Amino acid sequence: MKIEIRELTKDYSSCRALDNISITFDEGIHGLLGPNGAGKTTFIRILSTLLPKTSGEVYYNNIKVENKKEIRRIVGYLPQEFSFYPNFTVYETLDYFASLSNINLSKKVALNRLEIVNLQDLWKVKTKALSGGMKRRLGIAVAIVGDPEVLIVDEPTAGLDPEERIRVRNMLSQFGKTKTVLLSTHIVEDIALSCKSLSILNKGRLVYNGTVKDVIKNAEGYVWDLTVDFEKYEQYMDKYNVISSIVDGNKVSLRLLSKEKPSINAFAASPTLEDAYMRLIKEV
Ligand SMILES: Nc1ncnc2c1ncn2[C@@H]1O[C@H](COP(=O)(O)OP(=O)(O)OP(=O)(O)O)[C@@H](O)[C@H]1O
Ligand SMILES: [Mg+2]
Repeated sequence: MKIEIRELTKDYSSCRALDNISITFDEGIHGLLGPNGAGKTTFIRILSTLLPKTSGEVYYNNIKVENKKEIRRIVGYLPQEFSFYPNFTVYETLDYFASLSNINLSKKVALNRLEIVNLQDLWKVKTKALSGGMKRRLGIAVAIVGDPEVLIVDEPTAGLDPEERIRVRNMLSQFGKTKTVLLSTHIVEDIALSCKSLSILNKGRLVYNGTVKDVIKNAEGYVWDLTVDFEKYEQYMDKYNVISSIVDGNKVSLRLLSKEKPSINAFAASPTLEDAYMRLIKEV
């Protein structure tokens, strides 16, 4: 399913959270990256019909986002923050959310959804006994309970250990084979390892939209590695956007962003996605 966003703007009473955003994406996983306060949740809540936009258009194929009833049948949504009734079991929770969406869930289908998120063995366990990672996976099961064409997930890997993050990413990749997935995160690694296209938001503006490969390519010539004496460390920290620094005795190995070669001893480094992201956010 194709999602088309045209000149989308959202004003809250105190600030402009989204400023004239235009993006189109379809099947596969599309990443939405940005620092805290960039507008990711606002964007996602508008796409999920939970928040009205100020201006612009959002289409799912040819259906406008204002058709809430239709869109809600198409979209599964995992909020950034959510909670479950602690005394409901995993199965009861899924059944409860299905009934809220007017979905008549057979036990067989419920267990199948739980199998997708690898919780089938815990279907009788109360949600208060689940770990953070298990709760996120149950959240994904709730989001896909109606077998939606589109899955929108807001920071699904925040606070998870590496093993759980890998599990969640693989689940989304599986889903993205045939459906459209929008994954918001501020964890650059999530995007590098699962998305082919991405949008980067900063202060409500779209600062990049394209492939992961191209955003990295655009950062070539802006990332430098160099080793300096410890007494010069602060000078470099003040003058440049330093991405990493490793102190070893009285020397410091730095990686920094700069339009020009920062010193005769600096080497042009191959940018990573994180370097490319930082360059856009820091406007180097
Ligand atoms: N209900 C609201 N009323 C007023 N301002 C809001 C509201 N919700 C968000 N904002 C503001 O809009 C901007 C974007 O917030 P949003 O939550 O969309 O960012 P985000 O990218 O999801 O951040 P995070 O990574 O911290 O989740 C912020 O400046 C925030 O303070
Ligand atoms: Mg958010």
